[in-house]
Amino acid sequence: MDIEPEVLALIQRAKRVTILTGAGVSAESGVATFRSYKEETKESLWSRYDPQKMASIDGFLENPNRVWQWYQWRRSELKSKKPNDAHKAIANWQESNEQTVKLITQNVDGLHQAGGSEDVIELHGNIWRNHCLQCQAEYKESVDGVENVIECPECGGQIRPSVVWFGEALPEHAWRDAESASYSCDLFLSVGTSSQVYPAAGLAALAKSQGATVVEINPEPTESLIIDYTIAIVASQFFGGLRR
Ligand code: OAD
Repeated sequence: MDIEPEVLALIQRAKRVTILTGAGVSAESGVATFRSYKEETKESLWSRYDPQKMASIDGFLENPNRVWQWYQWRRSELKSKKPNDAHKAIANWQESNEQTVKLITQNVDGLHQAGGSEDVIELHGNIWRNHCLQCQAEYKESVDGVENVIECPECGGQIRPSVVWFGEALPEHAWRDAESASYSCDLFLSVGTSSQVYPAAGLAALAKSQGATVVEINPEPTESLIIDYTIAIVASQFFGGLRR
């Protein structure tokens, strides 16, 4: 399936483009998504693990080592993953300077940066960083091979991965930047996200309320009513199609 000429023209005409990415953008790098993606029949993380146990403060307090070890496992899975053509194409587009292209991601894997994007608004944090639950100080030492939760050298609190868990607020500066990028764009691309997790999922509506056109790129389109155009192809094919 090709990108409709009408949508291509819209993309080319846009002056300010804001892209929101989700786990689907990393799927072609071999990273598991959170919710199921039928075509690939790959298991998703939340079909195998309980998000309340693995990705909430209550889950962490109940059993810190279980949560820590799960993140260590995810890090070990991610270590060998490489950015795919979608990550690289987004980075090239940002660099081209022909249009203002802002990138907001819900992904914590760092693959946009590995693909060359210098400016990435990380809404849900970054799995490669850690900080203290108590004093919030960033923990900069390597945690490679560390099996159990460690203590903060500053205050003795517990060190946790710097990802946003269910029930937690998003990093303030990232949310501010994401809101402003959504407010000020004339084209909003929602790529590889099931749009089920708020507040990230609300950004498309914010953009639309300011007159932006909203385009969704997802092989399993969502049922969101605010989308103007749906392109039911994988992310790499979409961004590859823009190059022509
Ligand atoms: P989901 O797993 O909910 O959704 C991934 C979406 O990507 C699905 O709609 C798939 O159809 C689509 N998809 C799969 N492969 C694709 C491809 N190659 N190209 C384009 N789309 C593809 O992931 P998110 O929407 O990112 O939060 O999930 C949002 C948040 O929920 C995550 O950031 C995470 C999770 O709980 C935290 O960890 C805080």
